[in-house]
Amino acid sequence: MKKVWETFSPQETEAIGEKMGQEAVSGQVYSLDGDLGVGKTVFSKGFARGLGITEHVTSPTFTIINEYMGRIPLYHFDVYRISCEEEMDDTGYEDYFYGEGISLVEWATLIPNLMPKDAIHITIEKDFKKGDDYRRITVCQGENA
Ligand SMILES: Nc1ncnc2c1ncn2[C@@H]1O[C@H](COP(=O)(O)OP(=O)(O)OP(=O)(O)O)[C@@H](O)[C@H]1O
Ligand SMILES: [Mg+2]
Repeated sequence: MKKVWETFSPQETEAIGEKMGQEAVSGQVYSLDGDLGVGKTVFSKGFARGLGITEHVTSPTFTIINEYMGRIPLYHFDVYRISCEEEMDDTGYEDYFYGEGISLVEWATLIPNLMPKDAIHITIEKDFKKGDDYRRITVCQGENA
């Protein structure tokens, strides 16, 4: 399964996150990748809103994981600061990835061997030919992800 969306503002990216949050199901793990400042956290804010979370969502860059209570618990990871996969052992990530909540992992490309095989992959990219605020959001799940 592969889906592609194009957005032209942060609000539109947030809205796509919100729609995916509304459709998210208990136990899912999402990877969220793309360059620095591309819009991963903007997407995450929308995703959290879609899960019914009203709390202010910020990037857990220094804490690695933020936990929010919504229709389903959301575990928002940002693994940008980890320097090797072993560092993740201390976070208890397996309980989150294989539990009943939903995990959303910014910079998941840094922990390729730890991500569950059935994770849903979201990639956000810029294309300067299409303007500063243009983003392409690709969602893949399954064999060809
Ligand atoms: N179409 C768009 N979608 C999302 N963000 C956009 C868009 N156009 C412009 N932006 C801007 O891009 C920035 C995205 O910041 P954000 O913190 O979400 O990035 P990030 O990918 O989480 O970065 P980091 O890798 O540092 O965690 C914001 O300043 C936002 O306003
Ligand atoms: Mg971020």
